[in-house]
Amino acid sequence: MSSPESAEPAFVVTLNGSGGPLRGWVVVDTLVDGLAMGGVRMTGNVTEQEVRGLAHGMTEKFVLAGLRIGGAKGGIVSTGQHREQTFRTFGRTVKPLLHGGIHLGIDLGVTPADRAVFFAEAGYDPRRRAGVADMPMDWRTYYEPLVDCTGHGVGVAAVTALRAAQHRGASRVVIQGFGTVGRAVARFLEDRGHHIVAVADVHGTVKADRLPVADLIAVTDDLGHIDRSRLPQHVTVSAEPDGWLDVDADLLVLAANKDALHADNAPRLRAPLVVEGGNLCSTTEARQKVAAAGGSLIPDVVANVGGAAAAALAVTRTVPFELPAEERKRWVFDWVADRVRRNTTDLLEIAAATAGDPLPELLAVRRQELR
Ligand SMILES: NC(=O)c1ccc[n+]([C@@H]2O[C@H](COP(=O)([O-])OP(=O)(O)OC[C@H]3O[C@@H](n4cnc5c(N)ncnc54)[C@H](O)[C@@H]3O)[C@@H](O)[C@H]2O)c1
Repeated sequence: MSSPESAEPAFVVTLNGSGGPLRGWVVVDTLVDGLAMGGVRMTGNVTEQEVRGLAHGMTEKFVLAGLRIGGAKGGIVSTGQHREQTFRTFGRTVKPLLHGGIHLGIDLGVTPADRAVFFAEAGYDPRRRAGVADMPMDWRTYYEPLVDCTGHGVGVAAVTALRAAQHRGASRVVIQGFGTVGRAVARFLEDRGHHIVAVADVHGTVKADRLPVADLIAVTDDLGHIDRSRLPQHVTVSAEPDGWLDVDADLLVLAANKDALHADNAPRLRAPLVVEGGNLCSTTEARQKVAAAGGSLIPDVVANVGGAAAAALAVTRTVPFELPAEERKRWVFDWVADRVRRNTTDLLEIAAATAGDPLPELLAVRRQELR
């Protein structure tokens, strides 16, 4: 592994397109045994700096999970016009990387269909890699049933932290973001007896003493937009900016945008526990304010490793592919839950014993274990 403490990535590739125009980057933060992986995000304003930060986050997730693979990330600057052409060009451009051990998946703005386009254009099939056994199934058959794996891990981080805080009984939970991650966390926590008292999407916050999660999911589209015209009874709606911060709660799960919790809105936070389901959901200043107020925050790299770990378990051929589909899914979910539980517990113990951010010490301990 390249020095994990070094600020510089192993390498950065600027993408100018091949056989067509393209603007973007692939950042390989670290390589382990010649391997690295991470998702590709496509937005109109993604920057090289953002991709570098996300690639570094991938390295940290894999170190914490004890997976022997480096962190990478891709970024394409585009608002999504001419998508097919964009992903074909992307596939041709990153072809040598894909075939050289850099597995690129999906992130914001990139769908499984887009991934299929760039894999096909590059002639890349993650089932096969020189020197290792083939995967006995195609990528979608393996990966798509694991869509809730991130939310599962985030839920495990939440219940582990609630238990560590001696919180007994049903807790009041607010979830900001009701997409793939937010919905899975809501189901996970409701199944374990907790009360979801508010959820937010990009249009605002819906609240009730106890939101009926299944009914709410039934009126939410694939993009995580809740249909206000079909809400269950006794649910109230607020369009107040960041209205999810004003709801009395024991736990806030952030599962939406970057920097959702920042220095200016952090003083409104009511919940003593924050769990990051999305990436980079709180700024450094906000994290410091939470700690200064005596609260706890479980960061993204600890809590939301599920999807990345599920992919890495396949790329590193760690997963027992021979298990039947349901058992294989259970194996992956349990594997993720074990890592998230252990990291959450150890992070909180370090936080209780030391001043300042506990994450660097936890990372140092896990790096030592990987050597
Ligand atoms: N899906 C995964 O497995 C996965 C894995 C790791 C990290 N993440 C990260 O988690 C976050 C959520 O991912 P997802 O897949 O659930 O996304 P998604 O697109 O399915 O859903 C996003 C949700 O957030 C809401 N939202 C967006 N901006 C908001 C705002 N300003 N205020 C309130 N709500 C807002 C949307 O309305 C939607 O409900 C993203 O940061 C993503 O990068 C996702």
